[in-house]
Amino acid sequence: MEQTSENKIRIGFSQAMTNDDWRRSMNNAMLLQTSLHPNIELTIRDGNYEVEKQIEQVEGLIADSLDIIIVSPIQSKPITPVVEKALNLGIPVLVVDRKTENQKYTAYLGADNIEVGRNAAKEIIASNTKDSIRIIEIKGLLGSSPAEERSIGFHQTIDQYPMTKAVASIEGDWEKESIQQKFKTLLEENPNVDYVFAHNDRMAVGAWEVARNMGLEHQIDFIGVDGLSGPNGGIQAVKDNILKATVLYPTGGDEAIKLALKILNKELVPKNNILSTTIINEVNADIMKNQFDRINEQQNNIEQQLFALGDLEDRYSAQSNLLKIVMALLAIILALALYSIYSIFAIRKKIDS
Ligand code: FRU
Repeated sequence: MEQTSENKIRIGFSQAMTNDDWRRSMNNAMLLQTSLHPNIELTIRDGNYEVEKQIEQVEGLIADSLDIIIVSPIQSKPITPVVEKALNLGIPVLVVDRKTENQKYTAYLGADNIEVGRNAAKEIIASNTKDSIRIIEIKGLLGSSPAEERSIGFHQTIDQYPMTKAVASIEGDWEKESIQQKFKTLLEENPNVDYVFAHNDRMAVGAWEVARNMGLEHQIDFIGVDGLSGPNGGIQAVKDNILKATVLYPTGGDEAIKLALKILNKELVPKNNILSTTIINEVNADIMKNQFDRINEQQNNIEQQLFALGDLEDRYSAQSNLLKIVMALLAIILALALYSIYSIFAIRKKIDS
């Protein structure tokens, strides 16, 4: 049966931004999972780092009466009222990656960012042989929950060990341009630094670039978060000895669509759905790369098969339309033939009489 918009499940996704590979990979995973379900229609709105725009976009998804809204907030506080509004209007809301300010949503999906911070700290401690470790923390955007939680988890662990000292912190906005000048100034004032913990790989690599320009890249180790595969991802940066390690932060794109479907099927889902995270360092970077390469390969295969299926469907519908036209023409010819036979008989009858 042909699917019309009316009988499709309509999912709306308010994405915080799409200018980085992590977000793009999240969107792709969602789109791929969606294409496996012909009865789902996914609308993605890009907030483009603009808080007001993201609020308007969620308002738009509410006005369009989407069946469910998935939202990854730019910052927690400003988006909270509109998320509550959707929920009050009976639209389920799945919050992913960054949280809103309260628990007024249907479910949350993402890795535990306190755990991410703790893992980074444990890795710094485990990989160091010095008596004292002086660390600079480079934070993500103020007011976004992963930045706050990664910092909390990091300090929970670091503060327990007398040999680790968080000597300074810088606030960034998740992009490397936001921290490079500040990091340079900090290093110029005090180059006596052993480790940098940046809340994501993009800022970690940005800090490494600054250190390299100052000839300090061999003195300082860098750890980031995300662990994306691909040539510009954190795994490659570990393999290239730019980063000492990265903490895997999965996007959860496909899980988000699966969870949205469960919610719409009225299945009971946990309020907090936690994706697992792990450390990627020189020990397992190759294995992780191979695993992700394989997954990507399989995803490409699925995409190609879906494309081929779509092609077949197009051909099938073209042929079935052609068949309908041929059948209609045949019916006309048959009617005309019957009419001619009838006419011949009618004329003969007239002549005979
Ligand atoms: C992607 C990103 C990631 C980070 C996440 C936190 O836009 O900046 O690098 O881990 O958002 O929400």
